[in-house]
Amino acid sequence: MPTATEVEPKIRVENLGKQYGERTVFSDISFDVNPGEIVSIVGPSGCGKTTLLRCVVGLMQPSHGTVMVSGAPVVEPPEGVAMVFQHFGLFPWKTIAANVAYGLTAQGVSMKDAAPRVKELIDLVGLAGFEKSYPYQLSGGMQQRAGLARALAVEPGVLVMDEPFAALDAQTRDILQLELLRIWDTRSAAMMFVTHSIDEAVLMGDRIVILRGRPSSIFDIVDVAIPRPRGRETVDTDRFRTVRDYVWRAVMHDATDDTPLPTDTDSVRVESHTAERT
Ligand SMILES: Nc1ncnc2c1ncn2[C@@H]1O[C@H](COP(=O)(O)OP(=O)(O)O)[C@@H](O)[C@H]1O
Ligand SMILES: [Mg+2]
Repeated sequence: MPTATEVEPKIRVENLGKQYGERTVFSDISFDVNPGEIVSIVGPSGCGKTTLLRCVVGLMQPSHGTVMVSGAPVVEPPEGVAMVFQHFGLFPWKTIAANVAYGLTAQGVSMKDAAPRVKELIDLVGLAGFEKSYPYQLSGGMQQRAGLARALAVEPGVLVMDEPFAALDAQTRDILQLELLRIWDTRSAAMMFVTHSIDEAVLMGDRIVILRGRPSSIFDIVDVAIPRPRGRETVDTDRFRTVRDYVWRAVMHDATDDTPLPTDTDSVRVESHTAERT
């Protein structure tokens, strides 16, 4: 049992490895996500971020290692875990209200009983007035708001997001990042946030797991150490720039000829990690 000073992690990923046939996608992945914490995951396209998330939410079995959510090993999608995908994933034949209610009605709650909660969430994500609209009648940004409301409706203890804003235009993306931060500050769940945007990873994350290599493994886990609440001014701080530069070099080293890997002396490392720096 954890002692009073030790928080039980909401998510524990231990020694995780995944192969598709002969091909190893990643190996040796270990990290925790504590209650209330946002852990960003970055790494080059194809390094296995989506695969890792699918293992965490129990949609896929890892080849090695274990995932624990709330202290129990994940063998199938556990209760209290919600996922938001890049491509919205709304049901086109359901109204926005019915989409947002989906997680609740799937648990046996009637539409009528779900109604107050659905209204609250639709208000929270700024979609009041669109309850009866269908997804095709909404912009991409609005659809993603609905996806977020649907995920939050079940009061998830764990929220897993896979490049949720990647398909949106730049302004909508900026707005939704800040709104998600605002909404998140009122909750105590744990979030894993996959993004290919290094700025977004720093803005959202308490810590950043950096994946690199083929097969990939953890290059480093960076403690962002920027206090919350965060906002637009966060990106203008020295700390933001320092962390962004470190992560950028770690991710871009393999893609460019003249980007040196960041080193221990680059001062952002707080948590030691055993990965070989090659
Ligand atoms: N179901 C699958 N079967 C075989 N290979 C897969 C499958 N899903 C993903 N892959 C491969 O695994 C690697 C990692 O994919 P993915 O997890 O989607 O990476 P990322 O999300 O980081 O871009 C890619 O090379 C991809 O082609
Ligand atoms: Mg992916």
